[in-house]
Amino acid sequence: MKEIVLHDKTFVPFIANDEIEKAIDSVAARLNAKYKGTGEIPVILCLLNGALMFTASLMRRLEFNVDLASMKVSSYAGTQSTGNVRIVREPTTDLKGRHVIICEDIVDTGNTMVFMDKYLKEQGAASMEICIMLLKPDVYDKPVKLDYVGMEIPNRFIVGYGLDYDELGRNYPDIYVLKQ
Ligand code: IMP
Ligand code: MG
Repeated sequence: MKEIVLHDKTFVPFIANDEIEKAIDSVAARLNAKYKGTGEIPVILCLLNGALMFTASLMRRLEFNVDLASMKVSSYAGTQSTGNVRIVREPTTDLKGRHVIICEDIVDTGNTMVFMDKYLKEQGAASMEICIMLLKPDVYDKPVKLDYVGMEIPNRFIVGYGLDYDELGRNYPDIYVLKQ
């Protein structure tokens, strides 16, 4: 792994792909333990674009039937959360009465999850579970329960495995951190 340059910033290797995949293995095992054999068909709600890679990787490991839906919400500008979450694209699947598993790349302030909690209640979802690849526990201070967490990381700005810096960096299979 070498450093990468995205726009005006340099990022250095931080989490290798095999470590990420191992974290996703354990999240998938917990979902399989809960849903396999129950006959329940939950909706996997992928939050685009960041959770695309995580959702694809996770879904390949699920051993029960799922519906896949996606929506796009936005709150970040550059390397900072704006604190203002807005819907860029609504899901096309009706979530009313459904058990929804939100798939998200990373939880930072938690503003996005607070927004999603309210949104899914408004949509009449039967239940909501949150499944995230990464958590910044030093920043997260919201009461919303995070049901499945792949890995905890320090409060640093990262890219790769779906995560971006102003839309660049999503394609790299490893995770990189902003060079200090
Ligand atoms: P929150 O609403 O503050 O929890 O932020 C969640 C969203 O911010 C995630 O879906 C990411 O899109 C973005 N985000 C948070 N931290 C990072 C980071 O370190 N790199 C890239 N995007 C991030
Ligand atoms: Mg995101």
